[in-house]
Amino acid sequence: MGEKKLDGAGLRGQVAGKTALSTVGKEGKGLTYRGYAIEELAEKASFEEVAYMLLYGKLPNQSEYDQYSAKLKSYRALPEALKEVLERIPADAHPMDVMRTGCSMLGNLEPEGDFSNQNETADRIMAAFASIVTYWYRYSHDGVRVETETDHPTIGGQFLSLLTGKEPSEEHARALDVSLILYAEHGFNASTFTARTCASTLSDMHSSITGAIGTLRGPLHGGANEAAMEMIEQYSTREEAKAGVLDLLAKKEKIMGFGHAVYSTEDPRNAIIKVWAEKLSKLDGNTTLYEVSEEIEKVMDEEKGMFANTDFFMASAYNYLGIPTAIFTPLFVIGRTSGWAANIIEQRADNRIIRPSEEYIGPDNSVWVDMSDR
Ligand code: COA
Repeated sequence: MGEKKLDGAGLRGQVAGKTALSTVGKEGKGLTYRGYAIEELAEKASFEEVAYMLLYGKLPNQSEYDQYSAKLKSYRALPEALKEVLERIPADAHPMDVMRTGCSMLGNLEPEGDFSNQNETADRIMAAFASIVTYWYRYSHDGVRVETETDHPTIGGQFLSLLTGKEPSEEHARALDVSLILYAEHGFNASTFTARTCASTLSDMHSSITGAIGTLRGPLHGGANEAAMEMIEQYSTREEAKAGVLDLLAKKEKIMGFGHAVYSTEDPRNAIIKVWAEKLSKLDGNTTLYEVSEEIEKVMDEEKGMFANTDFFMASAYNYLGIPTAIFTPLFVIGRTSGWAANIIEQRADNRIIRPSEEYIGPDNSVWVDMSDR
């Protein structure tokens, strides 16, 4: 791939503000959240610990962590009016639209008001999301009204137990936890920038996050994990995968889950999720998806010098966890809400409305013609 094109298009390479939340691909730093290396967080932290650190500025001690976990658990219940709305959304709706509506409806029922409780608002939205998507999914697909206030200690475990109706194994719950950590924060990516732009007008947290969900939905951003899965599952052998990807490249199509707007040699999250995808494939016993993914990664390296981003092996990892493909990106939402909210809080602390300039390339001195003469 070589060096990134920095021609100004897509604001690539422009510094659009300051943050103390993460470094993305900085020389000598890599990906860090508040200075902690992603590799260490993915090995040692829980998602809730990472969310606390992003939102409250430091790692929690044991009693802070216990209180925080208990608080997040207490935020799992959904208001009746929200459940009614979710029950009216059809089964064939896209789960990202459900997330968007769920967040927006929560903003109607529990408006943020002034910003004095912004951390509580962030925690509430984050903790409600797993309930929102699983409540809708189980109701619309199975006719079941799940009890969202489960006793599971983590958001990842709660999500899996509500979705499948079974207690997840320790490995499965941890795999999901790690994926949420990897998704938690990532600089001024498109959805975070949307959230900050909305927040910069002094709008509320629900609006800022609803806008971010809409931005994350697209296949060039968070929707890439879903799009990658749709491609991977078309192949059942390494040979088929190789031939299929070569064909797509010959047609000049983009291979979802590859390339990155900031990284030019590797996405550090890929090495972490790839190990989990392999582990989950072995636990499953059917390693085909993993092998096909590995083959595609090899072909992309050989043919285009391109590397997998975090969404690529996230796809097979989530599939091995038994998660329907359309619910992959909502999990990205759950993880990234911690980062979005931390960015909103950071934006508010030193705010100036985000309003860049534009280069005008339209016509000059246009001459008005009356309607009857056009
Ligand atoms: N498959 C094939 N070719 C790709 C590609 C992919 N996934 N991603 C980029 N390229 C090619 C582009 O077509 C472009 O070729 P060109 O110079 O001949 O036009 C070149 O590589 C540079 O890519 P560009 O689109 O300018 O990169 P970007 O920084 O604007 O975009 C992404 C970054 C992530 C949007 C882009 O790589 C992409 O669309 N990837 C697939 C979607 C995805 O996985 N998104 C999740 C990101 S975490």
